[in-house]
Amino acid sequence: MNKKIQKEVKFQPHIQKKLEKMSETNNIYSQKQENLETILNNKSLRFCIIGIGRVGLPTALSFAKSGFETIGLDINTNLVNSINSGKYPLPDEPVFGEIFDTVIRNKKFMATTSFEESIPNSDVIILCLPTPMDDKNIPDYSALESVSKSLNKFLSKNSLVIVESTVEPGFIENEFIQNIEGEDKTKIAAQDFGVAVCPENANPGEIYHDFTNLPRLVAGIDEKSFQFTHDIYKHVFNVKLVTMPNCRSANAVKLTTNVFRDINIAFVNELAILYEKLGIDVWTVLEAAKNKYNFQIHLPGPGVGGPCLPVNSYQFLNTEKKLGGNILNIIRAARNTNEYMSKHVISLLHDSLKEKNIKIEDSTIAVLGISYKPNVNDIQIAPSKRIISLLEKQVSEIRIYDPFFKSTDVFSHHTMVDLNESLQNSDALLLVTAHDEFRDLDLEKIKKMMRNPIFIDCQGVIDSKKAKSSGFTFKGIGRGEF
Ligand SMILES: NC(=O)c1ccc[n+]([C@@H]2O[C@H](COP(=O)([O-])OP(=O)(O)OC[C@H]3O[C@@H](n4cnc5c(N)ncnc54)[C@H](O)[C@@H]3O)[C@@H](O)[C@H]2O)c1
Repeated sequence: MNKKIQKEVKFQPHIQKKLEKMSETNNIYSQKQENLETILNNKSLRFCIIGIGRVGLPTALSFAKSGFETIGLDINTNLVNSINSGKYPLPDEPVFGEIFDTVIRNKKFMATTSFEESIPNSDVIILCLPTPMDDKNIPDYSALESVSKSLNKFLSKNSLVIVESTVEPGFIENEFIQNIEGEDKTKIAAQDFGVAVCPENANPGEIYHDFTNLPRLVAGIDEKSFQFTHDIYKHVFNVKLVTMPNCRSANAVKLTTNVFRDINIAFVNELAILYEKLGIDVWTVLEAAKNKYNFQIHLPGPGVGGPCLPVNSYQFLNTEKKLGGNILNIIRAARNTNEYMSKHVISLLHDSLKEKNIKIEDSTIAVLGISYKPNVNDIQIAPSKRIISLLEKQVSEIRIYDPFFKSTDVFSHHTMVDLNESLQNSDALLLVTAHDEFRDLDLEKIKKMMRNPIFIDCQGVIDSKKAKSSGFTFKGIGRGEF
C-alpha cells in the first residue's frame, strides 16, 4: 500500500469515522447458504469494489443503491478525492449520476485508496481492474496481479472475492488464486476464502441499461463461491444469471462473444476490399444478406478499436502461445486484416489524389472522427491513431475534427474546434468515425470550402451518387461502384 497516496486522500469527517468504526465482517464464506437470504435482506454485508472506473464505479453504485455499505478502492487519488467530495466522474453514463448523488448523500458509498482499511473490513471484494495490453499486444494483468498480492496480505478469513475483469481462461485458477494464497499458504482458497467470476459485458454509455437488462455469467471455484455470488448478484441486479461450470469456462464465454465479432468484422472487411475491385457495394450486399434468417450482420470499417475486442483476441492468442501450439489461425488472420484496414484507407486516399494529380506530400487532409466507435468520447486503440500516424509520414498537414474531442491534444495533434475550420482549403476529407454529426453533411457547402473535393468514407454513411453529383472524387471502404 502506498502510504504517500493514502496520506494525500482527504476523508470527510463522517467517512473517517466510518472507517474507524468498521471492524468485524460477517464471515460470509463460513455462513450456511440458508442464512444468506436473511443476511442480504438485512443489508448487513459490506462490499469493497476495487477499481472504480467505467465498470467499477457503476458496480459500486449498484450495491450502494441496494442498501449495502460499499467502499470503492482505487489507486487514483484524484478520482477518490473527487468522488468523496461529491463530484460524479462519468457524465456520459446516464442514471448513475442521480444514484451517485443519493448514495453519497445517505453515506452508503465512499471511496478510498487505503487497502488496509477497506479490504479487511469487507465481506465481499469485487475486482473491476483494467486488463489492457502493452504496445507489443501482450495482455497486461499487472493490476490484478498486484491487487491479488495485496489480498494475500489484507483479506479477512471467510471473505468472498469476485472478479469481473476480462481475463484469459485459466488465469483465475492458475495465477490469481496462487497470488492470494501466497507462498506461505496462510489462507487456502475454497477453505478460508471463496473466489468467483462474473465477467462484465456492459457497453460504455449504456451501462445502466446493460446492468439492468443483460444476462450475466457466474462461476465459482467451488459450489459455495458460485451459489453466494449467484444469490448476491440476483439480489442486486435481478437479471438472468447463466450458471457456468467453472471460472475458466465463464471467462471463455466472454472472450468467445467478443472475438466472434472481431473475426466477423475482418471477414466483411476482406469482402469490402474484394467488392471494391468487382464494382459491388458491400453495404448494399450486407443489407440484402440480412434477409437470410441466420445471417448476423457485421459492418466493415477502418479497423477495430476499443478496450475489448482487439484485446480479447490477443488474450486468446496469448493463451495459445502459452500452450505452444498453432491453433488459433483464424483469430490471427482476423487481427492482421483488421489492423491492415488503416493502410487500405491510405491507399484509397492515394488513388484519389493521383486521379486529381495532387502530390500527397503537398496535401492537407481533414480527418473527421477519432473515437473508436460513434458517439462516445473514447479513443482507446482507435483505428484513427494508425491512420493519423500513416498520414504523418506522407502529407503536408493533418487537421482533426471530432465533436467529442474539440480543441484538445490527441495523438500529438491539437484538434479543431469546428468542422468548417478543418475543411477550409483542404485537399481530402477522411470520414473515420460515424458520429451522428457526420451523417447529415452539407456536401455542396463542404465542396465550396475545400481546395480539392476528395471524400473518403470509411463508414458507409455518405450517399456516393450524391457525393459524385456534388463534384466530389468519392471513394469508400467497400464502395465498388463503377
Ligand atoms: N469499459 C468497458 O466497456 C468494459 C466492458 C466490459 C468489460 N470491461 C472490463 O472491465 C475491466 C475494467 O475496465 P474499465 O473500463 O472499468 O477500466 P477503467 O480503466 O475505466 O477503470 C479501472 C480503474 O482501476 C483503477 N486501478 C488500476 N490499477 C489499480 C490497482 N492496482 N489498484 C486499485 N485500482 C486500480 C484505475 O485507477 C481505474 O480507476 C477490464 O477488464 C475490462 O476489460 C470493460
